[in-house]
Amino acid sequence: MYEQNSHSILNEILDKLKPEIKEQELHHFYTRLGANFYSLFSLFQYLYGNRKDFKQQLLHLVEVMAKQYIKRTEEQKRTDLAREKDFNWFLSENLVGMTLYADGFADNLENLKEKVPYFQELGVNLVHIMPILDCPDEASDGGYAVSDYRKINDRVGTLKELQGVIEEMKKRDILLVLDVVVNHTSDQHAWAAKARQGNKKYQDYYYTYDDREIPDMFEESLPEIFPETSPGNFTWDDSMGKWVMTVFNNYQWDLNYSNPAVFTEMLDILLFWSNQGADILRLDAVAFLWKKIGSTSQNEREAHILLQLFKDCCQVTAPGVVFIAEAIVAPVEVVKYFGEDAVNAKECEIAYNATFMALLWDAVATKNAKLLNQGVKNLPNKMERATWLNYIRCHDDIGLGFSDMDIELAGYHAKSHRDFLINYFIGKHDDSIARGLLFGHNEKTNDARISGTLTSLIGLESMLEQNNKEMINKSLKHILLLHSMIFSFGGIPLLYYGDEVGTLNDYSYIDKLGKANDSRWAHRPKIDWEKADRRNQPGTIEYILFSALKRMIAVRKEIPAFADFNNRELLEISNIHLFAFFRNDRNSYNRVLVIGNFDAHSQKLDLSDISSHGFRINPTMRDLYSGEFPLINKNHLVLPPFHFYWISNF
Ligand code: GLC
Repeated sequence: MYEQNSHSILNEILDKLKPEIKEQELHHFYTRLGANFYSLFSLFQYLYGNRKDFKQQLLHLVEVMAKQYIKRTEEQKRTDLAREKDFNWFLSENLVGMTLYADGFADNLENLKEKVPYFQELGVNLVHIMPILDCPDEASDGGYAVSDYRKINDRVGTLKELQGVIEEMKKRDILLVLDVVVNHTSDQHAWAAKARQGNKKYQDYYYTYDDREIPDMFEESLPEIFPETSPGNFTWDDSMGKWVMTVFNNYQWDLNYSNPAVFTEMLDILLFWSNQGADILRLDAVAFLWKKIGSTSQNEREAHILLQLFKDCCQVTAPGVVFIAEAIVAPVEVVKYFGEDAVNAKECEIAYNATFMALLWDAVATKNAKLLNQGVKNLPNKMERATWLNYIRCHDDIGLGFSDMDIELAGYHAKSHRDFLINYFIGKHDDSIARGLLFGHNEKTNDARISGTLTSLIGLESMLEQNNKEMINKSLKHILLLHSMIFSFGGIPLLYYGDEVGTLNDYSYIDKLGKANDSRWAHRPKIDWEKADRRNQPGTIEYILFSALKRMIAVRKEIPAFADFNNRELLEISNIHLFAFFRNDRNSYNRVLVIGNFDAHSQKLDLSDISSHGFRINPTMRDLYSGEFPLINKNHLVLPPFHFYWISNF
């Protein structure tokens, strides 16, 4: 959009750019800057317009963007142009992801490079390498307490080795996702060190206070994120002689985004990693970016403005790079991270679908789809050019993030149902075979979350111990049922490393310094490659899971209706154990019926439930996943225990 004030400011800025920038051929950069400047300027002004140095800060921002553009390789620039043209590239049915720790899945980056063919073997073509940057050995929060944003942790490798991994991935058309921990730094970061030395400039990078007056006001409304290990939201720093805001762990200092210098530093870091070869950046803890006294300081409007600004700037310098919002918040809030009041996503293009994840776990515990159906029905619509990351497990705990209202609408009492779920997953309930662990138990509110691997939470760990063959088989089917849901729901399915070969809880964290009181380490395993090699031995658990997933991935990639164009139609069906939806191909009349049985017993779907939607199943139709004819008995489709079908109408 053309607007005179911002345009004249842009002219002023362009005049003032340093000669080393002006000399360069920056044709595409200037076109994009022109196109985005009105928005970029308005957002920057909204946040920082009352500062005397506003124009200077804006000039600095543009310089950072230009300098990083200059560093972008020719190949990256070609990718940018190609993705601008094919702007829906990340909505494709072709994408399948996996999240992993470089030193958990492999030994380190060098070793990870050797393991890249494994992704191709499975069909994974998007790999999220969890934080690999410098961080203290113990106070690391699994890498989310960064002490140097541009240096890779020695334990994991070097930048050169990462380049080696990226090259190997490129050869095989595998995309890279990297984390940028935007909300906080480690207390060992150089900015924190300078703040400690009394440097005012760097004290202003954080929320620092001489006394408890403001911290106490904040505390009145701030919840606690890690109540067991890090109660409260402020930490006294002796050498600085000040309180500093630490919403997560007491060694993670929250960055102060009301300071434009912080925004521009972080943008520089985002662009740095874009230039290192990340296709997608995962922005950590975005809900927390803006703090306001009297509020929970989550999901504030300014946090959204900051993300829009990051997006606008990134689109100018590296438009081929898209963002993932890690915002594990209520469903109505999550969709806002795609951007409010817009048609196309204008903040993060991708967001974790934590609600769907938690609802799937509810269906596991209850063996029915009542809440799953209710919760998905109430999942707000997302805009175009935005997509979900659908996952069952990740490196974090499982929070029961669905609303009390949905629980009640599904016919339960909210509080008792939540208690039931926690007890179920920690194996305290009579009917439970799950082996989960409590995480983040808050004694004041009695809230709790759950840790554990997919395999142990489903019950495979306990059933293996009992050598209960029937239940082992059922558990394997249960695991595949969950996968069939994330592969077909709409969005990018994201596997968690180890799940593809049935990795169980790892209890060794209990003896490790810095990990013992964080049960999330139970599901952050070191892969046992001898066990993983059994994926080639028919009859083993590893083989059953790996080959089934491999097939599921291959089949998903052949189903255009699985691309995410908001083309899901939820079905209301009479049998509470079944969860069903259609995926409609936007370019043809093809429709795929996805249906899963969450019960441990066979269940039937009354075919009239779906024929009323114009979908008729006839005996010649095959299940796309297995290639077999679905079981039909009179007017019913039969689903064996934990079975699913992907049935197409063509
Ligand atoms: C994100 C990460 C989590 C971490 C937190 C604080 O939620 O996924 O592992 O503890 O941010 O950085």
